[in-house]
Amino acid sequence: MVITSPVRFIPEEIERSIMFLELRPPDISELVDLVREEAPVLAPHSLDGAGEPLLEQLARALLGLTLDEAGYALRRALSANPCMGPDSIPYLLEEKRVLVSRSGVIDYVSDGTSLGEVGGLEGLKKWLIERQKLFQMRDQLTNEIVPKGLLMMGIPGCGKSLCVKAIASCFQLPLYRVDMIEIFSGRHGKAEGVFVEACKMMEEMAPAVLWFDEIEMGVTSAESGGEQGRIFAFFLTWMQEKTRGLFVAATANRIDLLPAEMIRKGRFDEVFFVDLPHDDERIDIFRIHLVRRGVDASQFNLANLVSFTVGWTGAEIEQCVVSAMTQARLADRDVTEEDLIKTSVKIVPLSRTMKEQINHIRSWAFERAVRASPNPTGR
Ligand SMILES: Nc1ncnc2c1ncn2[C@@H]1O[C@H](COP(=O)(O)OP(=O)(O)OP(=O)(O)O)[C@@H](O)[C@H]1O
Ligand SMILES: [Mg+2]
Repeated sequence: MVITSPVRFIPEEIERSIMFLELRPPDISELVDLVREEAPVLAPHSLDGAGEPLLEQLARALLGLTLDEAGYALRRALSANPCMGPDSIPYLLEEKRVLVSRSGVIDYVSDGTSLGEVGGLEGLKKWLIERQKLFQMRDQLTNEIVPKGLLMMGIPGCGKSLCVKAIASCFQLPLYRVDMIEIFSGRHGKAEGVFVEACKMMEEMAPAVLWFDEIEMGVTSAESGGEQGRIFAFFLTWMQEKTRGLFVAATANRIDLLPAEMIRKGRFDEVFFVDLPHDDERIDIFRIHLVRRGVDASQFNLANLVSFTVGWTGAEIEQCVVSAMTQARLADRDVTEEDLIKTSVKIVPLSRTMKEQINHIRSWAFERAVRASPNPTGR
């Protein structure tokens, strides 16, 4: 007798007499076949000139979808672009975005920040470029060398979220964000079940970067017997055993809430501490934000701003650039270095108002994490 069902519910009395078979979504070779067979039916010349590598690239973008869903994704891509190529991939990924957003706890982040848009943090960037190489070779490497992920902790507004977005672009992978607050809201059922489901769903979406933002909101071992403790235990095992195609980027502010086991080597490949940017980094961040807004930064002597911005975060630098540009726009002229200096004296940095907390974060992190910037700030 064969019983098929979308949910697993087997009465206890017969549980031991039944063999349970879970049908997984199609694998890469099934998806390659699907693209090869379906695409020319939907649009006759859609695969003209497409070789095996492109077929595999397209199929990879469909991993995690059922055959029906993959079929919709193909139609979507072909209606936008009747000849399939690398440009079709975002359309294929769109179907996944719809699928994950249905879960209510995972979002697809489409922001394509590049590593070049992150100021400073050279140590972290160098590490990422190395990991990207290893990650690409993951199928030929032994388990302990395949990059699993990183944990970034640090002062709010210094670029943790920005870096996660840059990782996805650097690795050329889609980025999914797990919303810990939503998981614990109770709106989607019991947090434990929702968390486990989300992690499993993401394994089927691999390859991808998976971002746990403010991980300390969910994964603390404060009450080891309770739900949080069980989620934490699940997360630690999952980090060890998850598929190779997922790179986990976890970010945290309240690092002191994170249990020691989480930080111990082996769970994450590295734990980085993102500190307040030092002098050269602040100049770099000013330049990035001016250029991003179409200002020719070469006409500025940004070094003049260093002494006005001691203890500033990247977010405060951005705020300064935006306010200075707003002032200049109101006066109907281009922004000048004067505008930046005038604005800067009005900004009271978080590091001054929250001196205690920041010192606490720093002293805690210095012993437990690697600095994301190579040279210490000297403060
Ligand atoms: N190193 C940096 N280079 C360029 N821009 C930066 C940098 N750090 C911060 N910024 C700017 O500040 C904004 C806020 O930074 P981000 O959201 O990455 O901080 P965060 O560390 O994640 O903070 P939070 O802990 O509040 O989530 C960014 O969108 C970016 O524009
Ligand atoms: Mg953030």
